Amino acid sequence: MPLPPILSHYQASPILEARRKGQSTVTTSLDLGRSSVEVSLTASGLLLPDGQELGWAALEKVNGDENKCFTVEGGAIQPIIVHSPTTNWVRTLYPTAAAPTTLVAGFLMHRIKDIDPLQDTRRKIATIAPITGAVLDTATGLGYTAIEAARTATHVTTIELDAGALEIALLNPWSQPLFDNPKITQIIGDATEEIAKFADGRFNRILHDPPTFSLGGELYSAAFYAQLYRVLGQGGRLFHYIGDLSSSYGSRTVKGVVRRLLDAGFSRVVKKDEAFGLVATKLKVEG
Ligand SMILES: C[S@@+](CC[C@H](N)C(=O)[O-])C[C@H]1O[C@@H](n2cnc3c(N)ncnc32)[C@H](O)[C@@H]1O
Repeated sequence: MPLPPILSHYQASPILEARRKGQSTVTTSLDLGRSSVEVSLTASGLLLPDGQELGWAALEKVNGDENKCFTVEGGAIQPIIVHSPTTNWVRTLYPTAAAPTTLVAGFLMHRIKDIDPLQDTRRKIATIAPITGAVLDTATGLGYTAIEAARTATHVTTIELDAGALEIALLNPWSQPLFDNPKITQIIGDATEEIAKFADGRFNRILHDPPTFSLGGELYSAAFYAQLYRVLGQGGRLFHYIGDLSSSYGSRTVKGVVRRLLDAGFSRVVKKDEAFGLVATKLKVEG
């Protein structure tokens, strides 16, 4: 299904500037920067290519809310925001100058300082390149890790606890391959439960990109790490996102994570500062 036009303050601000300058048209994006289009400025508002007119007051509102993206339907704006009854988390699509991230219960799900969410994703993926064979992505979110891994993997299985995450992803132009790519299988469920259903050694690579410890402590547990080890094939590698390893949260968290990964059987647990995480390997047993 085609997406409705989507706007954030990154588009609204230059459009309002063009209006102040008396322009009658302006080039903008209605899909958060994936493509650009020319729109007309009228006395009452913005005339979109699909025939909708959005009044100036609505555009001022988009411009004034830096934490949200808005759909435009029937000439009205709607913030992209979901409250999940499963987790009780409020989730919004959070704009950046590049691809958006999500804000979940007050926490951003990708890095945005001096980096954008897609660059952040590529750094995570690069730590366990080459990505080949079957990949497990433990936390779908906006699907960026799953989409990026699917470029070279044979298949990606991605798990998301919160159906609200997928409601948001469905409206995100940058997440669409998550729904179109036949190499990606989505599972809605708790990764700590779903993982028990996979056969031993099923995956060549695992991308573990959990939310911060206070939102998903079970994803940092010894029991979960034992399952990650079990489902990873010999010679396989795991990337585990943690957060800035030089921050007090990162250095505190990484110590326990490394200890529990080694206890679970992983070898060669290596810190990857540039990707805010670490890589753990399951050794190949010879003979
Ligand atoms: C940091 S985000 C993942 C971002 C994702 N890798 C991407 O590229 O967009 C973490 C996600 O984990 C989900 N989550 C939290 N607990 C979970 C669990 N037990 N099982 C599966 N997903 C979980 C959250 O809802 C959130 O969407």
